[in-house]
Amino acid sequence: MERTGDKRQVVEAAERFARAELESDATGHDWWHVHRVVRMAERLAKQEGADTAICIIAALLHDVADEKLNESKESGLRKVSDWLAGQPLSEAERAHIMEIIATMSFNGGANPPMRTLEGQVVQDADRLDAIGAIAIARTFLYAGWKGDPIYDPQLEPREQMSPGEYRKGKSTAINHFHEKLLKLKDRINTASAKRIAEERHRYMADYVERFMLEWDGLDENI
Ligand code: ADP
Ligand code: NI
Repeated sequence: MERTGDKRQVVEAAERFARAELESDATGHDWWHVHRVVRMAERLAKQEGADTAICIIAALLHDVADEKLNESKESGLRKVSDWLAGQPLSEAERAHIMEIIATMSFNGGANPPMRTLEGQVVQDADRLDAIGAIAIARTFLYAGWKGDPIYDPQLEPREQMSPGEYRKGKSTAINHFHEKLLKLKDRINTASAKRIAEERHRYMADYVERFMLEWDGLDENI
């Protein structure tokens, strides 16, 4: 008979697996990002009454399948499902975790809403890590890794280009705030996460505003 009650063992194994997969990553998908998402997912799960173990396991595994770290999204997802197959979980639990991981990404905001409360919680935890002070640091780190400038007035606004054009070309860190990060607070699922998102968003929006003031040399009188 399958053992599905105590999931501590699976949580610990998932942590070792995720650590090993993500340790050497420099794209903002580092282990400490995962660590923060796990902690936030646990906090939100308790507040929202979601299954904490499922949320923690999905949060631990959520970036292992990322396209940036694998040949394709499919091969990344296969890596996670192969790993889950060796764990003492029920078929329904494995399917639930896979569903969360496969449908979590932002995808320009075009993905359908998360079906389960656990999925909503983990997605919120991941999105909250992309809003606020740490998110600002991650964005510049990522832009530097990619070779993008912090800002370039000649590359903005990106809306004038087709998505295909700017995927091939350069973006900027500041553009990423407009394209994605400043939109995230309106895509939060749960009330507990929404409260945190509002505050972090305000901080990040103020930062971008201040950046532009300094760029234009208009910060003398503030
Ligand atoms: P996740 O899958 O963890 O939600 P992403 O893969 O979208 O995150 O990105 C990881 C981190 O790098 C995030 O903080 C994100 O804001 C940042 N990032 C992603 N794409 C860019 C980009 N083009 N320019 C700057 N930062 C980026
Ligand atoms: Ni993530």
